[in-house]
Amino acid sequence: MKVTVVGAGAVGASCAEYIAIKDFASEVVLLDIKEGYAEGKAMDLMQTASLNGFDTKITGITNDYSKTANSDICVITSGIPRKPGMTREELIGINAGIVKAVSSSLIEHSPNTILIVVSNPMDTMTYLAHKSTNLPKNKIIGMGGALDSARFKYRLAEALGAPISDVDGMVIGGHSDTGMVPLTSHATRNSIKVSEFLSDDRLNQVKEDTKVGGATLTKLLGTSAWYAPGAAVSALVQAIACDQKKMFPCSTFLEGEYGLNDICIGVPVILGRNGIESIVDIPLSDAEKAHMQSSAEGVRKTNGLLEL
Ligand code: LAC
Repeated sequence: MKVTVVGAGAVGASCAEYIAIKDFASEVVLLDIKEGYAEGKAMDLMQTASLNGFDTKITGITNDYSKTANSDICVITSGIPRKPGMTREELIGINAGIVKAVSSSLIEHSPNTILIVVSNPMDTMTYLAHKSTNLPKNKIIGMGGALDSARFKYRLAEALGAPISDVDGMVIGGHSDTGMVPLTSHATRNSIKVSEFLSDDRLNQVKEDTKVGGATLTKLLGTSAWYAPGAAVSALVQAIACDQKKMFPCSTFLEGEYGLNDICIGVPVILGRNGIESIVDIPLSDAEKAHMQSSAEGVRKTNGLLEL
């Protein structure tokens, strides 16, 4: 199993680190445009192998896509991250050009790869990958919902005073501050609906804190977060590499599911060796349905800024 991660910045490097620590891939190629940077990160990570007990080989490459040839999975994290006060949508101008060029170079050397898009605005970048490459839709996956759901579970556990392992929940919709749809109606603590334990007001607070999860960190850190994004990507990569058939909300091209067409947006999918093996249609409350529609309108507005 060969995995390429493009972008050796904070998200790309932590993604490579988490993949390596889980020790399911034979090789991770880390590629960056900055001379020597990916090589340095890869060497530093390889020097953790004996300490952390993994055999995954991490190689760093400056911009030579021939070294990524025959990757089973390619992750695109490249582009500029947001600064405090910026929305993910404001990154579109620069990141669209980068994502288009990177996906085309990756596919030239790995025509059968599965592509995971992380660069923001993520749903629009996933849509761009869909429109600008000839990969089938099951092989183009946008990472947002897995991260947003992890942040939702963190906030739920905090509100419940429970360990995170007691809590389950998902966030669907667009990966943006207004677009995220935390599914409070489905969230549970050990299979009991969280609404049994939390007031409507407290649940609403959880929802709002979840939606600004990335923005809160950007404000604290001065740049975009990386540990949870990297861990979320590694969970998707593992589900695909190990054919786990696990369910995650991911941005995928919809053709009628959730009443939506010609858009990439976060919905629950089953991930396995074929990438997106199926889309799971779940019942939503009326409020969640309305939120999903307005979320899709927001994503479409950003898609409209693409030069396709
Ligand atoms: C975040 C970025 C990765 O939500 O979109 O932290």
